[in-house]
Amino acid sequence: MCGITGYIGCRDAAPILIEGLRKLEYRGYDSAGLALLSKGRLNVCKKKGRVAVLADEVAKKPVSSHIGISHTRWATHGGVTDENAHPHVSSDGRFALVHNGIIENFEQMKNFLIEKGYTFSSQTDTEALVNLIAYHYDHRTDDTMENRFMEAVRKALMHVEGTYGIAVISPLHEVQMIAARKGSPLLIGIGKDERLVSSDVLGFAGRATNVIYLEDGQIASLTTDNCDIVTISNKPIDFVVNEIDWELENADLGGATHYMEKEIFEQPKALENAIRGRISDDESTAVLSGLNISPSELRQIDRILFCSCGTAWHACLVAEYLIEKYARIPVEVEYASEFRYRNAPLDKNTLVFVISQSGETIDTLEALRESKRKGYKTLAITNSVGSTIARESDGGLYQYAGKEVGVASTKAFTSQVVICLLIALYLGRLRDLSYAEGREIVEAIKSLPSLVEETLKQAPLIEKIAKKYAHYKDFLFLGRLSEYPIANEGALKLKEISYIHSEGYPAGEMKHGPIALVSPECPTLIFGNSGSALPKIISNAQEIKARKGPIIAVTDSPEAFEGVADDIIAIPHVHKSIRPIISTIPIQLFAYYVAVELGNDVDKPRNLAKAVTVE
Ligand code: M6R
Repeated sequence: MCGITGYIGCRDAAPILIEGLRKLEYRGYDSAGLALLSKGRLNVCKKKGRVAVLADEVAKKPVSSHIGISHTRWATHGGVTDENAHPHVSSDGRFALVHNGIIENFEQMKNFLIEKGYTFSSQTDTEALVNLIAYHYDHRTDDTMENRFMEAVRKALMHVEGTYGIAVISPLHEVQMIAARKGSPLLIGIGKDERLVSSDVLGFAGRATNVIYLEDGQIASLTTDNCDIVTISNKPIDFVVNEIDWELENADLGGATHYMEKEIFEQPKALENAIRGRISDDESTAVLSGLNISPSELRQIDRILFCSCGTAWHACLVAEYLIEKYARIPVEVEYASEFRYRNAPLDKNTLVFVISQSGETIDTLEALRESKRKGYKTLAITNSVGSTIARESDGGLYQYAGKEVGVASTKAFTSQVVICLLIALYLGRLRDLSYAEGREIVEAIKSLPSLVEETLKQAPLIEKIAKKYAHYKDFLFLGRLSEYPIANEGALKLKEISYIHSEGYPAGEMKHGPIALVSPECPTLIFGNSGSALPKIISNAQEIKARKGPIIAVTDSPEAFEGVADDIIAIPHVHKSIRPIISTIPIQLFAYYVAVELGNDVDKPRNLAKAVTVE
């Protein structure tokens, strides 16, 4: 979603801001803009389309400046136009602002400001805020010149209902930038003689060595070599400065064509990182110190609730299967966006987990807050060190999958699933899972990276199959048990990047409705692995074949699908506990190659954002 970068320092601001925006492109956006201060003047350039379009425009009229703000917009209020792109400037021309979030009461603000003579040129909510800042600037004449800018922003923000991450500059204060957050991530980067602002560490484009994570309700005043932070009620804050681990944040394409391709093939490494140091061979269990919860407390848990969105929600569904199977603890899975509002009754001894790759998804963050507010211990599984979800949870486990840039989540998903398996193993071994069963799971987990490596070798075959099916308009994905969530994940991956309508179902549900879709025009990808459910799955496949539906089987028992499936993707025969991960690899590759065949923008699919920071 929207990306913010801001710069104040002794270097030329424009190239740094553009580079920052380039690094934030992966978040998903539809327009980009930049404002620079130079010699008491505000220079604004904004364009719909890609950052490259903005960069070309900026290059036509270079402005030498040491302070500026920039933005990639993902449209919420108002269409994708140059006018609606950020930065927005107050109608008196004295303030420029970039904003991520939604100002819910902007209509009231706007009406108030129109009465006072302010004018508006966009359809955005943001323009109301920048004008309100101008209004408060003029109505706080008791403030000294030094804190007048900060106070105007602070006063304006006190009237905002909704969410924001903002950066503001003014030609009246050429050596100061104001940044604030509530509900939308905002980070302050510290470099040598420079301060940066960004919605994401990547936006610092490698310049900052340290980072301050602004908390909700905090406002920062930045100069080249200083940073002061107060709360919205004007209380000074003692903030923590963290070092940035650029190795963890590294996001180069390497030799790959797309980030998604790179990230699919990085999974053996990502899984290795997620597992490292988290297995006890001696005790055949997992070592999960990050949970911050004692074994005796864990033994009191009667129920676990998992909350998430999108792909992470599918990881929760796999967690349900794994934890119920190995730890025998009842698990519920909720969409985070529903949990927050539906006030579900929870048992006293419920433990809550949220899963979020980005650690910034607003629905998941609010579900976490709601759960904590009700007094439940709330833990997080996230890939983003220092993210809001990581900071606000009572404990949790980092995925260490490395930065995921492709909008379609791949390596983050499989590393979330392996962490859920580690949790299932740990909880199981605290209860009734025997040493021998634990041992089998431990061995399975240890073999995962090499088994994923082996499965990835099917890429050329899957590419061929993907080309054959790329031009269909509808798809069904069917799986049973722990592969039902993977069927959902397959359908989500395909629709996200190929824009092909696809649905995931438990295979047994097929006859209760989805079979109506089956025809020569609607292929089905079906998971069919060895075990008691295999004969049933073969029957499902036969029923599809009888209706002339094309079938792709993903299976560890290829012989069982001979003469039934049109195409077969063989996967290794593995322990049940890791099967969902192995089964995921073919559907990721399939979706990727279909999208490539269709010529789609794989890493930045239309309408989607990497971190969904507005509700
Ligand atoms: O960052 P999160 O894991 O919280 O994101 C949740 C979803 O928005 C995300 O998984 C989304 O569904 C992806 N685009 C899936 O590929």
